[in-house]
Parts: sequence; structure tokens; C-alpha cells
Amino acid sequence: MKDILNELERRREIARQGGGAKRVESQHSKGKLTARERVELLLDEGSFEEFDMFMAHRCTDFSMQDNRPYGDGVITGWGTINGRQVYVFSQDFTVLGGSVSNTHAQKICKIMDMAVQNGAPVIGINDSGGARIQEGVDSLAGYGEVFQRNIEASGVVPQISLIMGPCAGGAVYSPAMTDFIFMVRDSSYMFVTGPDVVKTVTNEQVTAEELGGASTHARKSSVADGAFENDVEALYEVRRLVDFLPLNNREKPPVRPFFDDPERIDASLDTLVPDNPNVPYDMKELILKIADEGDFFEIQQEFAGNIITGFIRLEGQTVGVVANQPMVLAGVLDIDSARKAARFVRFCDAFEIPILTLVDVPGFLPGTSQEYNGVIKHGAKLLFAYGEATVPKVTVITRKAYGGAYVVMSSKHLRGDINYAWPTSEIAVMGAKGATEILYRSELGDADKIAQRTKEYEDAFANPFVAAERGFIDEVIQPRSTRRRVSRAFAALRGKKRQMPWKKHDNIPL
Ligand code: HXC
Repeated sequence: MKDILNELERRREIARQGGGAKRVESQHSKGKLTARERVELLLDEGSFEEFDMFMAHRCTDFSMQDNRPYGDGVITGWGTINGRQVYVFSQDFTVLGGSVSNTHAQKICKIMDMAVQNGAPVIGINDSGGARIQEGVDSLAGYGEVFQRNIEASGVVPQISLIMGPCAGGAVYSPAMTDFIFMVRDSSYMFVTGPDVVKTVTNEQVTAEELGGASTHARKSSVADGAFENDVEALYEVRRLVDFLPLNNREKPPVRPFFDDPERIDASLDTLVPDNPNVPYDMKELILKIADEGDFFEIQQEFAGNIITGFIRLEGQTVGVVANQPMVLAGVLDIDSARKAARFVRFCDAFEIPILTLVDVPGFLPGTSQEYNGVIKHGAKLLFAYGEATVPKVTVITRKAYGGAYVVMSSKHLRGDINYAWPTSEIAVMGAKGATEILYRSELGDADKIAQRTKEYEDAFANPFVAAERGFIDEVIQPRSTRRRVSRAFAALRGKKRQMPWKKHDNIPL
């Protein structure tokens, strides 16, 4: 018996060594952790249960029968993050470059199937040279099976991708269909075609980092939801994110112990909005002052800064926040900000996460670039996303809520449940100056008259009371009491049940 047990340990030891000391050293020299080290840091200590440690490919082309490493370049299994179950796969670049064989893909599919069946998130750590070249179409078939599972799992269990090395060609489309992608600066990249092909086809010269590195995707393309300095930081932040999320779409988000009085009053908020309506202020300050313990997990921080998206907790319960940011482009809505917020709203709705919307929006960004690139269609995404969301929706207008953007930003008309406004709110078709210039065009030459007309318009409309008279605003609240009012609003909505008419699926403008 002892020999049998020793044999098991011997084989396990071989599997644990991955591609061997030299390749592990090379991995470390690039500033990257190994697949196993990553899993250990991601999960609670000692919680990892591995599957298919001894699985090996069955390819015999290109003498591959002589190179059949245990595990076949990916480590799979489940474990816990702060006690809650997650499934994980971690590609091992030290084994055949982490390349995806049919067997490798089967291992990923197995844990994805289990995750959907058992209702737990899937976290994929990507570090791979792509399709296993020796396997040809068998590898592509494997990818296809993973893609199909990404699609079926979407909206059922949260799917999170960490890109921690190469991820190129069609392989990018698996992470692309997950809910969140996080990348590591200087050691990861994602692109459909690499720098060499780009050079040949378009004659552009670009490095892998420039073409598809973490900064490119976090700032320019918005493919990535966050970029981190190193593996350790990225893994730690994903643990933090998972703490905000429900395990699946049938479960409520987790409730954490909280040490922050929901009745907390913050007098500094009374002076957050400057006297001059054209002077910006930092909407993040309001988010942090509303949140339990000032804890905010921001999504897509580096992209479309004119809108802020992320998670906070109120009375220990997760809330998704969407907020216009007056500090960037005056908080205007445009193509990028509408797309960013729409996707976030849809994630929250799919996973029963209530949405808090903080509004200070002067309208949509004008310009040929916006119109030519389809601001109509992209702006409609956010409108659609809010209107179809059936989760509790609480809105606070702090200052401007003009025109179509007023309606879009979770207004009463899109079934906002509780809509508050600060006394500094201006809810109108447009700003007073613009309105006066249209209404009194014939008086434009007379500066005094126009100033007087502008003042009249401001007095009549640059306030929340016209909307409040009509019930479009439920209450005008003191800024200082925002946390208390918002917490109570969400508490009142915990039993909310609302359904859209039956349909196969909607046809959101894409
Ligand atoms: C088989 C691969 C491999 C692959 C890497 N290796 N990629 N083996 N299939 N796709 C092996 C290498 O032969 C090498 O083995 C080991 O992994 C490490 O690779 P290196 O090249 O030494 O590492 P590095 O210099 O860091 O370069 C990494 C790399 C490069 C840039 C990823 O390996 C590379 O260009 N690989 C090919 C990428 C590719 O074209 N893949 C197909 C993309 S298309 P030894 O034994 O020498 O250590 C695709 C389609 C998916 O993926 C379609 C889905 C529908």
C-alpha cells in the first residue's frame, strides 16, 4: 500500500512541477507568477480542489506522443474566496506554452459546466500561446466548445477573466464574452492579429504592448475593465470584486457585516456643488461619502471618465453605482460613456444588483465624430439598459439633468423607483443660456435683455421643483442626508418584483 501511495505522490509531484525548473525560472524572470502560484493567491489558503491533474492530450502528430505532460497546460478546479465557492482555470505557460489542445479545452469545459450546474462564478487566468499548433482543427473545436459555454453561462454565473500573458488570435473571444477582463501591465497582451501581421497588412509599426497591452485596453479600446501593476495586485483585486458579486443569477448579492452607520449625516455634502453651475466638482467624493466605509470598487476607471461605474455597499449589501462625472467633459454623455454604463447596468440587472444613479449631466456631446460614429445607437444602449432593468433603481440628481440625458439617467419615466433631487438641481430641456438664445433669438443683440431673460428662465426652470410638482422627483433632499435617504430607499425596495413582458430576448441596439 505504501508503494501505491508513494506512486500517487510521485505522479502528483511531477504534475506540480509544470514545465520544470528552467521554464518556471523563465516565467518568474518575466515578472509573472506560475499558474499554480496564481491559483494559490487567488483562493483562500488550502481551499483549492484540483481536477484532472493527470489528464494528457492524445495527439500523435509531430511526435507529440513523446510529449504528453500531466495537466496539458492548464490547472482547473474549485476553491473559495472568503469562504464562497468559485471555479477556476489557470493556463500554465511553462507547459507547451499554455497552448490550447482539445484536452486542455475539455478541462476548462468541465469546470464551466460544473460552475453553471452548481451556481458559482468562473475565473479564468489566461496565459497561453493560443491554439496548439500541432493539433490543428481539434484545438479549434476545443475553443469553440469553450466559447459556447461562455455564451450559455453569460447572465447565469459571473465570469471573470485575468489576462496574465499572451492571449491572441481567436483565443481573445473567450475572455471577450466574460463579464470582466483584468490585465497586468507590461506582461499581458490581447489582440486578434499581432504586430507582425499588422506590419504586413497595414504597414503600421507597433509593439505588442502598444497594440494590445493593459494600458491600451484599459484606456483606449475599453476591452479591459482594469489594469494592474503585477499579478499579485490583480489577483488581490479580483478577490475584492468577487466579494461584491452574487454567486449566480438566482442568488441575492452577499451581505457583509458593516460598521458604518446608515444614518450617517455628512454636512460637507451641502457645499459639494459649487455656486457657479459651470464649475466642476468631483462626483467620486459623493460616491465615497455615500458608501459603507468609503469602499468603492471601480470598473473601467481609465476609460470614459465622464461616467463612473462600480460597486459600493449600503448596509452591507452590494449596490452598482453609475454617476456622471462633472470633472471630465462636464459629465456629458457620449458614445464611450453610454456604452460603458449600459454594459454595467445590464450586468447589475442580470445579477440582481440594485442600481444607484447619481446625475449631473448637461446633455449629449455634439459633433460630427459623435454623429458619424453612431451616438444615436450607442446612446440608445444606455436608455434601453435602464428601461429594461427590473432591479431596484434609486436616482439622485445633484445638479444638471438636461434634455434626453435627463430621461436616460434612470428617470422616473424609465421606471426609476425612487428619484431624489438636491435643491441645487436644474431639471430642464437645456441650460438657461441656450434656452434663452433659442426662445428670444430676435433679442440677441440686446445683452441686457438676454441677461434678464436668462435670469427669468433660471428662476422658472433651473430648480427641482417643477419636476417635483409633477411627481417626477419623489422628494427634494438635503445633500447632507443622501446616505441615509439612499440607504432607506434601497431598504424599502428589497421586496421589489417587476417583470417585463415575455420575450425570447430583446433587440438592444448593438
Ligand atoms: C504549440 C506552442 C504554442 C502554440 C507556444 N508554444 N505557442 N506550442 N502551439 N500555439 C510553445 C513553444 O513552441 C515553446 O516550446 C513554448 O511554448 C514557449 O514558447 P516561446 O515561443 O519560447 O515563448 P515566448 O518567446 O515567450 O513567445 C510566446 C509566444 C510565441 C509569443 C506566444 O510562443 C508564439 O508566437 N506562439 C505562437 C502563437 C500563435 O500563433 N498561436 C496561434 C494563434 S491563433 P518549447 O518546447 O520550445 O519551450 C489562435 C487561434 C485560436 O490561437 C482560434 C480560436 C477559435
